[in-house]
Amino acid sequence: MQLTTNHLLGIKSLLPKDISIILSTAQQFKEVLQRPIKKVPSLRDVTIVNLFYENSTRTRISFELAQKRLSADTINFSASASSVSKGETLLDTVNNILSMKVDMVVMRHSASGAPHFLAKHLPNIAIVNAGDGINEHPTQALLDAFSIIEHYGSLEGRKVLLIGDIMHSRVALSNIYLLKKMGAEVMLSGPPTLIPKYIQQAFDVQVEYNLQKALQWCDVANVLRIQLERQNQVLFSSLREYNLSYGVSQKRLAGIDKEILIMHPGPINRGVEIDSDVADSKQSVILKQVENGVAVRMAVLYLLSGKKELNV
Ligand code: CP
Repeated sequence: MQLTTNHLLGIKSLLPKDISIILSTAQQFKEVLQRPIKKVPSLRDVTIVNLFYENSTRTRISFELAQKRLSADTINFSASASSVSKGETLLDTVNNILSMKVDMVVMRHSASGAPHFLAKHLPNIAIVNAGDGINEHPTQALLDAFSIIEHYGSLEGRKVLLIGDIMHSRVALSNIYLLKKMGAEVMLSGPPTLIPKYIQQAFDVQVEYNLQKALQWCDVANVLRIQLERQNQVLFSSLREYNLSYGVSQKRLAGIDKEILIMHPGPINRGVEIDSDVADSKQSVILKQVENGVAVRMAVLYLLSGKKELNV
């Protein structure tokens, strides 16, 4: 099984069959991760650099663990502790690292399009986008999809609600691309100031500003963090006000007549977009998403490595 791409820059450029191949390969790696010995030799002799220009907990650890489980050699680069502070450009930094015979680059960057820029200049190195600005976070959308399928069996016809800061969320954009490509229905809910006006027509998604109605509609609610670090103007009155109108709480869920699946990409702001009584409930698969991220990232790295036989 081969992907139609040499890089994973975003879900936008993937075909549905690429998404299916990644998710089915991730299922095989998830089985590997249940074994007493969780390590396979699939990427022995492959060297991968994790290039993080922006903070991360889950994605960075998940990629590193995925690489170790696949027996790859891993190098971690943190921009804050590098020669970037001395003025070195992104391309110079990467070219210097590649001259030490690195095979793949996993990159997170605050600038939208940074991994696309690298892929254009370095077409022969597999580039994996670990989140670029407000553009895409493709492995997050893949692990979200994997977690929905694990719970419900399929994505086709599934009603998925994305709640909150749609405007600044790369997770939202990657989820919308993926869910629409795989036949799910998508609804967005949140304050009008955080949902771009063009999005309904551009992506064929529904918008419902009344969160109670939106929750009643969905099978899955993926709650997004308010990205205060990306907002340069006041878009809602206060965090308290936001919680009262759009926070997901047990009190609010008690008003709907079914049990929906609760997801969140993390990091969580407890008491803002989600209350602890929901985040820690049995309806929540938030930590399952994190667990599934390792298998999904193993699949992405393995498939982009160009290795032909998967013997696990
Ligand atoms: N979900 C996610 O991208 O989390 P981190 O920022 O901690 O990697």
